Amino acid sequence: MLLEVKGLTKQFAGLTAVHDFDLSVEQGDVVGLIGPNGAGKTTLFNLISGFLPPTDGKIIFNDTDITRMKPAQICRLGIARTFQIVKPLTRMTVLENVMVGAFSRTKDPRKVKELAIEVLEFTEQIEKMDKKAGSLTLGERKLLEISRALATQPRLLLLDECMAGLNTKEISVAIDLIGKIKERGVTLIVIEHVMKAIMSVSDRIVVLNYGEKIMEGIPEEVVNDQQVIKAYLGVEFAECH
Ligand SMILES: Nc1ncnc2c1ncn2[C@@H]1O[C@H](COP(=O)(O)OP(=O)(O)OP(=O)(O)O)[C@@H](O)[C@H]1O
Ligand SMILES: [Mg+2]
Repeated sequence: MLLEVKGLTKQFAGLTAVHDFDLSVEQGDVVGLIGPNGAGKTTLFNLISGFLPPTDGKIIFNDTDITRMKPAQICRLGIARTFQIVKPLTRMTVLENVMVGAFSRTKDPRKVKELAIEVLEFTEQIEKMDKKAGSLTLGERKLLEISRALATQPRLLLLDECMAGLNTKEISVAIDLIGKIKERGVTLIVIEHVMKAIMSVSDRIVVLNYGEKIMEGIPEEVVNDQQVIKAYLGVEFAECH
């Protein structure tokens, strides 16, 4: 098992954002994470990537207990994440932004640049390398965010709503990119509200509601589950599906 989360709990002053959450992710899996606003999805990523300490529970990555580790340490071990609110370094170029990610792997500037260029070729953003990040469209910023995370050479990549606000064409680009990342052998956990996208990229979907897992299964099982329809998808989705 690449990632093993056991009994994970996070409380914020009186509010339990994540409660007794278990998850096992095998190498090569793409796990979709869905649930209503405020369900605890981003908090879960913050816990796994070390941005927040858990109140209780354990996170084991590749046989190492990472529960109390700092983000930089966890990143070096091979977990990268993107942020729901994209925050590129706007005055730096696309290439420089991706180089920031690559610096977590090597301090050799020549190698850092090579690695960043290789990632931008992979994500098909190389022609934008000299553009200032601040001049990018939302869709381009989301791809930059993914590029920056990939430049840390993760084994596990956590994508937090990379498709929110994108148009249909940009969504299909993002879906294809997730497929390519998976082909490279990277394991993914993907948070997304765009159901068509989450259905097509996920091997397995986990549904969170009020910080608890209410369902886990293959996409077809999850979208037809009455509890999931009631908590998240809504009757309209069930009828038009
Ligand atoms: N740093 C924090 N301090 C206090 N409360 C927080 C903090 N971060 C998140 N919360 C609360 O925890 C709950 C879960 O939030 P979280 O951002 O994890 O939800 P989410 O599932 O990612 O929602 P969305 O789909 O809107 O992004 C919410 O009630 C939120 O207000
Ligand atoms: Mg969120």
